[in-house]
Amino acid sequence: MRKVFIAGNWKMHKNRVEAASLAGELISAFSGEKKKIMIAPPFTALATVAEVLKGSKILLGAQNMGPEEKGAHTGEISPQMLTELGVSVVILGHSERRHVYGEGDELINRKVLLALKHNLEIILCVGETLDEREKDIAAQVVENQVVEGLKGVSEKAMKQVTIAYEPVWAIGTGRTATAGDADTIHTLIRGLLIRLYSKKAGEEAVIQYGGSVKPDNTAELMNMENIDGLLVGGASLTADTFIKIVKYE
Ligand code: PGA
Repeated sequence: MRKVFIAGNWKMHKNRVEAASLAGELISAFSGEKKKIMIAPPFTALATVAEVLKGSKILLGAQNMGPEEKGAHTGEISPQMLTELGVSVVILGHSERRHVYGEGDELINRKVLLALKHNLEIILCVGETLDEREKDIAAQVVENQVVEGLKGVSEKAMKQVTIAYEPVWAIGTGRTATAGDADTIHTLIRGLLIRLYSKKAGEEAVIQYGGSVKPDNTAELMNMENIDGLLVGGASLTADTFIKIVKYE
C-alpha cells in the first residue's frame, strides 16, 4: 500500500512570523492525521518553522537546493545546510526552476544524486508545457524528464524519491488537468519506473499530482488509481484550504 503524501509548497511567500503562525495552525489540525504531510517554507523561514514543527509529524521541506556540497557558489544552499536545520525533503526540478530560471535535466540530476547521498528525500517535479501538450508530446517530455532526472539513482534509493507530475499549464492558472488526464500520465510514469527498476519499485513509488489543486478537486484527483498524493502551491498558503485538502474524503 502506498502512503498518501500531501505536500505544500509555499514558494516565495510568508515572512518568519507568518510562516510560524501557519505551521502552528497546521500542527494542531493534523495531530491525529495518518497521511504523510510536508510543508516547504522559503529558505529564510526554515529555521523558524523547524522550531515550530519540533515534536510534530509534519515534515520540513525545502523548495530547492544547490548542486554542490560547499565552495564558491554565491546564492546557493548545500544539502548539509538543509539537513542541519531539520529539513528532510527537498523539491527538485520544479517547473518554475526549469522554465523561469533555466534549470535543465543535467543540473537537476546532479541535485537529485547529491540530495539522496545526504539522505534527503526528494520530490522530483516533471511536467509538460502547454505547447508540448498541444503538440501531443506530453508523454515523451515527461518520460524523458523522469529518465534524465533519475540517472544513476539506485533501486534502493528510490525509497527516498517521490515524483510529482505538474503540467506547467496547470500551475497557478486555475486550470487543473482532468483527473483522468492526470492519471494517464501517472500510469505512464509508474510503467516507466517498473521498466527502469522493478515491478516492486514501480508499484511502491509515490506519484503526486500538482497544479491548481483546491479543496474541491482533491477527492476526484485522489480517487484515481495512480495518484498517490498532491503537491499544492497556492492553496497551501492558508490553513483553511490546506487542512481541507489534507482531510479530503
Ligand atoms: P499551484 O502550484 O497549486 O499554485 O498551482 C503548484 C506547484 O507549483 O507546485
